[in-house]
Amino acid sequence: MNTRKLTIAIDGPAGSGKSTVTRKVAEQINYLYLNSGSMYRTVTLLASQRGISPNNRTQLTDLVQKQCRIDFADNGKKTLLNGIDVSEELRHPEIEQQVVVIAKIPEVRQEMVKQQRRIAKNSGVIAEGRDVTTVVFPDADLKFYITASIEERARRRFNEFQTKGVACSFEQIENEIRIRDQQDKSRQHSPLKKAEDAIIIDTTQLEINQVIDLILKKIKEHQ
Ligand code: C5P
Repeated sequence: MNTRKLTIAIDGPAGSGKSTVTRKVAEQINYLYLNSGSMYRTVTLLASQRGISPNNRTQLTDLVQKQCRIDFADNGKKTLLNGIDVSEELRHPEIEQQVVVIAKIPEVRQEMVKQQRRIAKNSGVIAEGRDVTTVVFPDADLKFYITASIEERARRRFNEFQTKGVACSFEQIENEIRIRDQQDKSRQHSPLKKAEDAIIIDTTQLEINQVIDLILKKIKEHQ
């Protein structure tokens, strides 16, 4: 696929499969993969490295505005914090628990949106997160809202942790996803919601490849 370079935006809750799908679609069409969740995780990691509390809005604002440049390498597979690859650290449960608190801060969000638009400039991009269809790229050429049942999403996250040898229980993961959903959907700034013009895909009963094929078909129709 070459022709017109599009901006494609995908939002959805944790564990919906959107990261895997977005990464694979980006590979197939040779687009830049922009994982905005990784950017909020990166800020959380940096705050933890600097000993800044997730509730300290003033210090966090200063940190993101002056000392936090985020880039992607290897077509989005690696997340770089001030030039250093931090991809592995971002999936740690401690980051997972704190990220929602930091993602609520409006100054942090403003800075991330700015950086997301910088990263997306000058190339075909496929971005995913919670607000990329509504706030970051409201004029995206194509928008999707990917979701799945809570049980299925918890099962996927649990399997991911098991594979990586991270100790946790299924109940703990399910509970954390429930809390994170609630917090992402109810926060004041840029809450997770379906954009009016987004195509909804429920992945509960679908294989990853089916979701990828569906999205590729829509992209083709758009070019
Ligand atoms: O997608 P992922 O699970 O990595 O996102 C981690 C967290 O980052 C989300 O639970 C949410 O609180 C925050 N986030 C956000 N806006 C985005 C992407 C992620 O607030 N666009």
